[in-house]
Amino acid sequence: MSSKLTLAVCGCGSRSRTYSNIAMSLDGQFEIVAGADPIASRVEAVRKTSNNPNFRSFTSAEELLDQPNLADVMIIGTQDQYHFSPAKKALELGYDLLLEKPAAQNISEVKELAKIAKKHNRKIVLCFVLRYTDFYSKVKEIVDSGKLGEIISIRAHEGVEPFHQAHSFVRGHWAKSADSTPMIIAKCSHDTDIISWLMQSPCKSVSSMGGISHFSNEHAPEGATERCTDGCPHAETCIYSSLRYTTDRERWLGMVYPDPTKERETQEILDWLSVSPWGRCVYKCDNDVVDHQQVIMEFENGASASLSMTAFDAGRTLEIYGTKASLRGGDAIKQQFETDIVIRDHNDGELEKITLPEPEESEYSGHGGGDYGLISALNGIINGEEGTSSSLIETSIDGHLIGFSAEESRRQGGVKISL
Ligand SMILES: NC(=O)c1ccc[n+]([C@@H]2O[C@H](COP(=O)([O-])OP(=O)(O)OC[C@H]3O[C@@H](n4cnc5c(N)ncnc54)[C@H](O)[C@@H]3O)[C@@H](O)[C@H]2O)c1
Repeated sequence: MSSKLTLAVCGCGSRSRTYSNIAMSLDGQFEIVAGADPIASRVEAVRKTSNNPNFRSFTSAEELLDQPNLADVMIIGTQDQYHFSPAKKALELGYDLLLEKPAAQNISEVKELAKIAKKHNRKIVLCFVLRYTDFYSKVKEIVDSGKLGEIISIRAHEGVEPFHQAHSFVRGHWAKSADSTPMIIAKCSHDTDIISWLMQSPCKSVSSMGGISHFSNEHAPEGATERCTDGCPHAETCIYSSLRYTTDRERWLGMVYPDPTKERETQEILDWLSVSPWGRCVYKCDNDVVDHQQVIMEFENGASASLSMTAFDAGRTLEIYGTKASLRGGDAIKQQFETDIVIRDHNDGELEKITLPEPEESEYSGHGGGDYGLISALNGIINGEEGTSSSLIETSIDGHLIGFSAEESRRQGGVKISL
């Protein structure tokens, strides 16, 4: 087994805490030595997880990065708009990085980070966790085996799920693209990454259309109040009611509630909802990211791909059309065939069904087991045992490029953008 890696955590929010918990569950592979976040209770949560008496706490990324190098790897789990500068500084200090996606807020910064990493002989592992799931690993293995023949086209679909859309992209961190990144990057950089990873050919051009069709003022039901806690007459029936954070949607609260270490009483949550962004009526927010978007892509090998994103479906579906066989997989296929992947052989029309083990229902099963898969692979990747899944920045630039170009196209009404 590879030697133990020390970790410093920059931004102790929801993602970093998940990775820290997983790292500490992998006996002997990691030691967490430091954490930084302006919210002290979040650093405290990571300190507790680390079980390290010598753990060092910092109040900001800047304070942590003012120190000399403290660890082998820095986890950068700050928000989208604050990836580039801590990542650059950390590389210069000699850290390898586990950097949350998207790598940066625009393509020139993404390329710049790849360049800086190369200059300092450092690795940047991006958190494209889907690559590490059983499902996408299997699809990649099938594509690479040649079983499908030459890939002629790919169709990917991402259904965000309405409450998830409301939580993250209407009320939440990724509601305004200038404060974070556009939807096609913030949510769908996973999908553009998977498409480019499977296609193995540079993307030549993209076109994209989309917008906000539902989460806007004119769709507010009659008499809706600014906040669900203001006595809104629809609070008991609206599917987006924030009162659901106290009942069946409490899981979502854990990701945004300021203090992760504390038990939450219902009244306390209601008080918080009366002032926090997550208590607002979804039709009365300042959101500007899309609730549906289509992207079409042309690749240098002559193949094409399309990606559809909608708030109004749940789960991802993937279809790959090759010269020898076609592959269908993902949530819609699972619902229809009760299996994960269906391959149709063009020669005899036979269907092959592949069923994968369910990721164990645990706190580590996030993203179809991808969070666990990524951290389990991290030690090996940093120590040079790179597999086909390794989401190193140099293999992930194309997916970012597709996403940023798609947004440029969408903003210009769907014009074709050459990459
Ligand atoms: N890989 C995935 O599938 C996936 C899923 C969700 C989110 N993300 C990405 O992960 C990142 C983090 O998302 P999250 O949901 O954990 O967000 P979060 O808001 O829970 O965490 C970000 C943390 O950064 C802290 N922070 C702010 N300024 C700081 C500073 N100057 N120094 C140190 N810390 C600072 C915040 O207090 C917060 O605790 C985002 O870029 C997001 O897009 C990735």
